[in-house]
Amino acid sequence: MLRSLFFAAAGSARLERLVESAPVSRGVVRRFVAGGSAEEAIRASRELADDGLAISLDHLGEETETAEQAHAVRDEYVGLLARLHDAGLTPPAEVSVKLSALGQRLDEKIAYENARAICVAAAEAGTTVTLDAEDHSTTDATLETLLELRKDFPDTGAVLQAYLRRTEGDCRELAVAGSRVRLCKGAYAEPESVAFQSALDVDKSYVRCLNILMAGEGYPMVATHDPRLIAIAEDRARWFDRSTGEYEFQLLYGVRPEEQARLAAGGHTVRVYLPYGEQWYGYLMRRLAERPANVAFFVKAVSSR
Ligand code: FDA
Repeated sequence: MLRSLFFAAAGSARLERLVESAPVSRGVVRRFVAGGSAEEAIRASRELADDGLAISLDHLGEETETAEQAHAVRDEYVGLLARLHDAGLTPPAEVSVKLSALGQRLDEKIAYENARAICVAAAEAGTTVTLDAEDHSTTDATLETLLELRKDFPDTGAVLQAYLRRTEGDCRELAVAGSRVRLCKGAYAEPESVAFQSALDVDKSYVRCLNILMAGEGYPMVATHDPRLIAIAEDRARWFDRSTGEYEFQLLYGVRPEEQARLAAGGHTVRVYLPYGEQWYGYLMRRLAERPANVAFFVKAVSSR
């Protein structure tokens, strides 16, 4: 119920204007977002790197409406990659991009060209790009773009969402040598026809997908905060004889930082997904939909003013 409320809120432009203008929102948002500018994102990346963590930076924004906006997003990433390189942060930093921010809904070719320009900049900087997964209506187009990009940039990463019924099949296709696959549960409101609805079914699907990725020849990126799934991933990595450099854990900035430190101290590669930018509303609403404790944090911050 609460979950669907936040998904509905995520689509409301009126509420977005209201929440973004409230001074308290900015304080709350700082827990999950590095800041508004590339400079702040680089500062936060440096702090994470100093703690032995890898990073995937995401410039917030989705559903771009014009080609000009899409090109501006591309330019932001290209500039960010050059700055990360100059700051000596590539590695451990890479970038995550949403094809909808690069113009996917306007024209798939525009999104592909923009993503390609970001891949060129990433290669020049000595790092990689991962294509975020968005709602299920974009999955085919995103995976097609991934396959095109991988012809010239084989280390371009994919994201697969365990809640989608199709994902086991996608894992099989992508569990090949050189392929990097981030497995997450999935963060959008999806219909029963395409997605498992109960938490248990999503978790079971996550484990089936994890088995396929760990057994395969690619590089699994285990993106979850769920302690049970993290323990299962550690177990499956041992079972399939993978050393700690042959897979990684990924968690969101501001979520379970103590677990991020624990995994890194245990010798694991841990990558923190670090969003920055002014368009944080949709991202924040998805984090609130995920976890009642995040809502309590939000309400507490609002009522304490
Ligand atoms: P879930 O939210 O079910 O939480 C399971 C358990 O984890 C909780 O019961 C609790 O024990 C623990 N937990 C979770 N949050 C906690 C907190 N704040 N404090 C303490 N414990 C907590 N989605 C998508 O659709 N497309 C994408 O491209 C991505 N990309 C992505 C990258 C990375 C690096 C991550 C980690 C996640 C994504 N996601 C995503 C989001 C993902 O799909 C999912 O919505 C969230 O990760 C939440 O799911 P969990 O697996 O953490 O489990």
